[in-house]
Amino acid sequence: MQEPNNQEVTVMGWVRTFRNNQFIALNDGSTNNNLQVVVELGKYDDDFLKRITTSASIKTTGLVIPSMGKGQKLELKATHIEILGDSDAEKYPLQPKKHSLEFLREIAHLGFRTNTFGSVFRIRHSLAYAVHKFFNDKRFVYMHTPVITASDAEGAGEMFKVTTLPFDNTPRNEDGSINFKEDFFGKATNLTVSGQLEGELGATAFGDIYTFGPTFRAENSNTARHLAEFWMIEPEMAFYDLEDNMNLAEEFIKYIIQYAIDNNREDLEFLAQRLADEEKQLPQDKRSEMGLVEKLEFVLNNNFERLTYTDAIEILKESNHNKKKKFQYPVTGWGMDLQSEHERYLVEKHFKKPVILTNYPKEIKAFYMRQNDDDKTVAAMDILAPGIGEIVGGSQREERLDKLEQRMKEMHVPVEEMWWYLDTRRFGTVPHAGFGLGFERMVQFVTGMTNIRDVIAFPRTPKSAEF
Ligand code: 4AD
Ligand code: MG
Repeated sequence: MQEPNNQEVTVMGWVRTFRNNQFIALNDGSTNNNLQVVVELGKYDDDFLKRITTSASIKTTGLVIPSMGKGQKLELKATHIEILGDSDAEKYPLQPKKHSLEFLREIAHLGFRTNTFGSVFRIRHSLAYAVHKFFNDKRFVYMHTPVITASDAEGAGEMFKVTTLPFDNTPRNEDGSINFKEDFFGKATNLTVSGQLEGELGATAFGDIYTFGPTFRAENSNTARHLAEFWMIEPEMAFYDLEDNMNLAEEFIKYIIQYAIDNNREDLEFLAQRLADEEKQLPQDKRSEMGLVEKLEFVLNNNFERLTYTDAIEILKESNHNKKKKFQYPVTGWGMDLQSEHERYLVEKHFKKPVILTNYPKEIKAFYMRQNDDDKTVAAMDILAPGIGEIVGGSQREERLDKLEQRMKEMHVPVEEMWWYLDTRRFGTVPHAGFGLGFERMVQFVTGMTNIRDVIAFPRTPKSAEF
């Protein structure tokens, strides 16, 4: 902004506060900083001034002058004010004071008008842009994979059904099962849990692709890290092995963090302060060791710790935490699935930085992961982040047709129906790898918001689909 020198400007926005019938704090959504609009005393009658209430929208023209008051360099000396939309102060749910996040979730339709969500969603926007920029600069092709599919990409059965069949008088086969031939698509369909399988079709033609779209999981997990509808970024790269995959994922995460630091400094600092204030209520040992911006810079400046699942189990088993039985799920040994408390112990207590775990037991991972020579593990990798737990899940893919088919049969994945997927292995198969980054978990990490419901505008969770 130029130095204030009496230039005339017209601005539009929403009133945050109106003080002494003289000072309007006006906000246009571009930043949490308000513009102070100074109303000339005596120029307007009381009836007009009464309409300048919190959240009324106004259009005002005036002169930009240096501000005498504290807290701002310049202000607008209004020569003309027009009220575009009144806002009944009695009925407007947001008061110019701090509201709890629980309360704000109930009025999510107005949440963007608060400083906290203003900052969060401007950063969310920036991160989404950074995702596209990162891959576009590397010449990846952005693929739009279907939202409605007939397959279960993760083989976990956590799908929302998509159907137009009636609930009563549902058409049935002779054996009593539902006759999906009568359904809209002529077969059973669901909302996608991942665009990966279609992504692999793209990668085996374009080389490098990525997806970025909504995914749906009907898992009944009521936690601060799970949504039923979340956005996922899934790059898939031909000719990549597991190590290439990890390198790309680490570079990618650091890139988008750097992007936020470079472009959202003000909003990050606002959220850092908010977090620090919130943590003041916690006992010392529950507070973060680093401030938000400090934490992000620390992640940028350090390599992620890489170790195998097998080594991680050893660390967990031998930890005092486990020996003192402080885990809700005790560490029983090799083969067990890691709970988020275990992941967070490794990241927050043991290594104190992001961790990439590799080579998990094949029994706890999806059918498409490449089988290692030991016959026990697959070339999987999960990235675990402080305060979040798993933020990325990925793997090198099984490119060998016979091994893939065998694994699908073992895991009861319908081989026949997936003929199109298996064709990539029939016609010019190549080593390839990819991963999925949960976008909301990434936004959580960057903004420091502790509940995933506060980084997506209209969260979908068990028993909740308001707005
Ligand atoms: O580990 P997931 O299930 O992996 C896949 O879907 C693979 N197809 C990815 C790939 O290799 N292309 O999910 C990937 C990431 C998780 O690490 C997590 O960050 C996020 O997606 N995620 C969720 N985020 C919010 N709510 C949920 N219910 C999530 N489930 C997974
Ligand atoms: Mg996973």
